[in-house]
Amino acid sequence: MNRESIKKFPTVSLSLLPTPLHKLENISRETGVNIYCKRDDLSGFAFGGNKTRKLDFLIADAISKKANTLIAVGAIQSNFCRMAAAAGKVSGLDVHLVLGGEKPDKPTGNLLLSYLFGANIHFVDSNDWNILEREGKQLAEIFKTQGKNVYRLPIGGSTPIGALGYAAAFIEILDDCNRLGITTNTIIHTSSSSGTQAGLIVGKKLTGWQGKIIGMGVAKTEKQLSKEVFDLAHDTGKLLHVSIDKRDVILDNSYMGSAYGVRTAACESAIKSFAEKEGIVLDNVYTGKAAAGLLDYAKRGLFSPNENVIFIHTGGTVEIFE
Ligand SMILES: Cc1ncc(COP(=O)(O)O)c(C=O)c1O
Repeated sequence: MNRESIKKFPTVSLSLLPTPLHKLENISRETGVNIYCKRDDLSGFAFGGNKTRKLDFLIADAISKKANTLIAVGAIQSNFCRMAAAAGKVSGLDVHLVLGGEKPDKPTGNLLLSYLFGANIHFVDSNDWNILEREGKQLAEIFKTQGKNVYRLPIGGSTPIGALGYAAAFIEILDDCNRLGITTNTIIHTSSSSGTQAGLIVGKKLTGWQGKIIGMGVAKTEKQLSKEVFDLAHDTGKLLHVSIDKRDVILDNSYMGSAYGVRTAACESAIKSFAEKEGIVLDNVYTGKAAAGLLDYAKRGLFSPNENVIFIHTGGTVEIFE
């Protein structure tokens, strides 16, 4: 199997691709490392971010299964649910979001956008992802008894079909590098529900690329996330007939801070650096923490001299307005 094998899976092509890959000139000069940014924050659809790539495949799958109702679950400010709301709605599906938290008097950020995109929202008073998944399943059962054909999306859209979006993104990155006349051995990005990293690893295996994909964990223990990434990469790899090696899963949780969503000084400083030096906006939950790791690796001399490092900006910038 080769890189063409992904093309046999249908997509709805909501993302505006390819997203740009460009050098961060000021940060590269300052750190002494050639840092390039893959701008998946500019994937275009519904404010952009990494989830549009997963939804391109997931919504096409829902349509092929003749679904008429989409259920997505997540935190009250979930980036994924915001994009799932828009992707489902424009594709003619009735969208229901199961969100953790209390209904606020005045919606802001991603919640405001989810309403704007026409989603029906069900609030569940819990931040436990297992409880949200359970509520999503129960809602799906109720809808099924009403004769609806439901397509259920787990947290972050991290299924093998969703992860194909990042296997394709990996190939796009290698094509970008070819166009720019560079090679890279290191890709760094935020890892949370495992779909982005699992997809990238599958892309690596499809192409035979030998570099490192480093996921900066922001939500779970390294042990839990590395198992989830491996399992999902394995299942996604099966769709494309590639096998995954445990050594391909590289995670670093050092920049998460005390918990998911809790701000850290290093993250705030990375957000400021990207804003002031590159005019790029990061967020406090995902990309700012991964960028803190990237800048710290550069400071500690963990990259080889003259290496080209790629940082994937996975979006999430709506958070900054909260
Ligand atoms: C902005 C942003 N970056 C990165 C991630 C992590 O992606 P994944 O859940 O595929 O690991 C998320 C997931 O919610 C996100 O919203």
